[in-house]
Amino acid sequence: MKLEAGKIAVVTGAASGIGFALAQRFARDGLDVVLADVEEEALAGAADRIGALGVETLAVPTDVSDNQAVQALADAAVERFGSVHVVCNNAGVSSRADPWFGPLSAWGWVLGVNLWGVIHGIRAFLPILISQGEGHIVNTASIAGLNPGSGPMYAASKHAVVALSEELFKTTKIVGLPVGVSVLCPGWVHTAIMDADRNWPARLGENPPPALAADVMRPHYERAIDAGTDPAAIADLVTEAIVSDRFWILPHPGFVELAIRRWHRIGEGLDPDPAVDVPGFPPASQIASEIQAALTAPTGVGVSTLRARDR
Ligand SMILES: NC(=O)c1ccc[n+]([C@@H]2O[C@H](COP(=O)([O-])OP(=O)(O)OC[C@H]3O[C@@H](n4cnc5c(N)ncnc54)[C@H](O)[C@@H]3O)[C@@H](O)[C@H]2O)c1
Repeated sequence: MKLEAGKIAVVTGAASGIGFALAQRFARDGLDVVLADVEEEALAGAADRIGALGVETLAVPTDVSDNQAVQALADAAVERFGSVHVVCNNAGVSSRADPWFGPLSAWGWVLGVNLWGVIHGIRAFLPILISQGEGHIVNTASIAGLNPGSGPMYAASKHAVVALSEELFKTTKIVGLPVGVSVLCPGWVHTAIMDADRNWPARLGENPPPALAADVMRPHYERAIDAGTDPAAIADLVTEAIVSDRFWILPHPGFVELAIRRWHRIGEGLDPDPAVDVPGFPPASQIASEIQAALTAPTGVGVSTLRARDR
């Protein structure tokens, strides 16, 4: 689909990072932009900056894990602009809580935003795109959607997003729907994702304490994300995929190589490799020793403490 003035883009998680870069790129291509985000102040600021590029904007405070809120977003977009052409289901979070010993609320939050947010977005906007006879949906997954390794909550949510996107793509082709579908699976991108729990919802109670492994991994993640790709470059790849109607958006070939190696092992029936070196991280052997050292540290942080703490 051609991206040009007169078309309308909707972006969730538009107040920061990849979402903001998408909004900026669409605006530079002349599209009017509907920005949705749960962080209201940042959203208003983002809408001002996008508006300064000379396009119309609409900022709609939205929690994508809430189906009614996403339906209201779709209604607001159509009421304001009369149509929608590009929908980026991009909002996402990651939790540092312990997946197995911590509270279930962390699973609810991550799956609520990362998975249900995408489901809500597709269900709210697909009928609009179909009735218009034109449109494109971009779902932000992650390389974690093709290769687990960044924690079970995040990996599970992103695997589900890749799977449902692929199903949607096939359906549009089989049924002949006039809607393009792409899935974005980046590795490291320089954004504020490490501070995702700034948006931990009060309704879920207290933000759970970080898991032991999350504490050990935090500096490594921070370094990798700080050195990650500029979100503007990711937005360029997304627009190329929309224009050329391509499904896969895979900005980081080194990470795709890991996913391919994983699939070779699957094909051979081999168990998952627990010691894979990840681009941007220290060697897997170093990370494993850091985690083991933290578990056996005399500070008393061990598996048994962990169990007691998180009960
Ligand atoms: N940064 C990376 O390295 C990376 C890699 C792969 C995938 N991703 C994915 O990219 C997407 C964007 O994240 P980012 O890296 O730009 O992080 P970010 O924190 O900079 O931006 C995420 C945005 O989503 C918003 N958000 C959070 N919860 C929300 C909710 N319930 N409803 C609506 N908006 C909500 C936040 O307020 C924020 O503006 C996410 O889906 C993330 O999982 C990021």
